[in-house]
Amino acid sequence: MWQHKDLLGLERLTSAEIEHILRTAKPMKEILMRPVKKLPTLRGKAVFNLFYEASTRTRTSFETAAKVLGADTASIAVAQSSVSKGETLLDTARTLEAMRPDLVVVRHQASGAAEFLANHLKAGVINAGDGQHEHPTQALLDLFTMWEKLGDLAGKKVVIVGDVLHSRVARSNVWGLTKLGVEVVLIGPPTLLPDEMRVLGVECRHDLDRALPGADVVMALRLQLERQQAGLFPSLREYSRAYGLTSERLKRTGKPTLVMHPGPMNRGVEISSELANSPRAVIEEQVTNGVAVRMALIYLLTGGTAHVVD
Ligand code: CP
Repeated sequence: MWQHKDLLGLERLTSAEIEHILRTAKPMKEILMRPVKKLPTLRGKAVFNLFYEASTRTRTSFETAAKVLGADTASIAVAQSSVSKGETLLDTARTLEAMRPDLVVVRHQASGAAEFLANHLKAGVINAGDGQHEHPTQALLDLFTMWEKLGDLAGKKVVIVGDVLHSRVARSNVWGLTKLGVEVVLIGPPTLLPDEMRVLGVECRHDLDRALPGADVVMALRLQLERQQAGLFPSLREYSRAYGLTSERLKRTGKPTLVMHPGPMNRGVEISSELANSPRAVIEEQVTNGVAVRMALIYLLTGGTAHVVD
């Protein structure tokens, strides 16, 4: 069923492949929730993490996912590696490949870095976020969370609000959600949601309050201040007033809407602490589901069959 050496983005997957990953993640979550969460399924396999950008959730969850399935893992701390002595991405990757990993998980500040590695390595490559391009495993865990909570996603409405311009999470979610038949509305100030974003093929608007009615899910994006030039919005306070999620604002949906955030959150800017801590928010479940989805991906990319070996 699974045909790919690598997972580089959701743009290239079919809806059937996305659904296959979500279905495989379901038993993985059951395994993860057991008191003793350790299987021998991937004994003898090795997964390397190569992160050129900071990460808490993605890196730890890939490590956890590999270990639960019995694989060996190694995480390369780029700041303490030979990258700091000028070693190129390709030489670093070839050096790692000489140690015979089965999978390399890479996060890099350059869009296309994961594909570059995939074209040069025999090992499978998973994109853990490349520049402003894609963050496919985040979108898959978001889809899994929605699917668990809402069932079939076709016809549902998802509002994604914030720094769309710099967000690889938004791009991957747009590809994944639209392939599953979801109505997606992107919201942000014109500087963070310029007209060019319409090439993504979904509705782009600037008024959050008018987009909320009927939303089944509202996803706030992190303001990626590290990727922004100055002056994209007047102040954090004004941004929050126009685009910050609060319980009061959420009443406009007229539904028991799910509130999501990929993390890390800027509390009081993108989302109020009160809403982030409320039962409407599924932010911590997203993190748990991230381990299950990454277990499924590691399993499938290392040759796992349709029936999870338990
Ligand atoms: N959502 C996400 O990618 O979080 P990290 O940067 O902590 O991995």
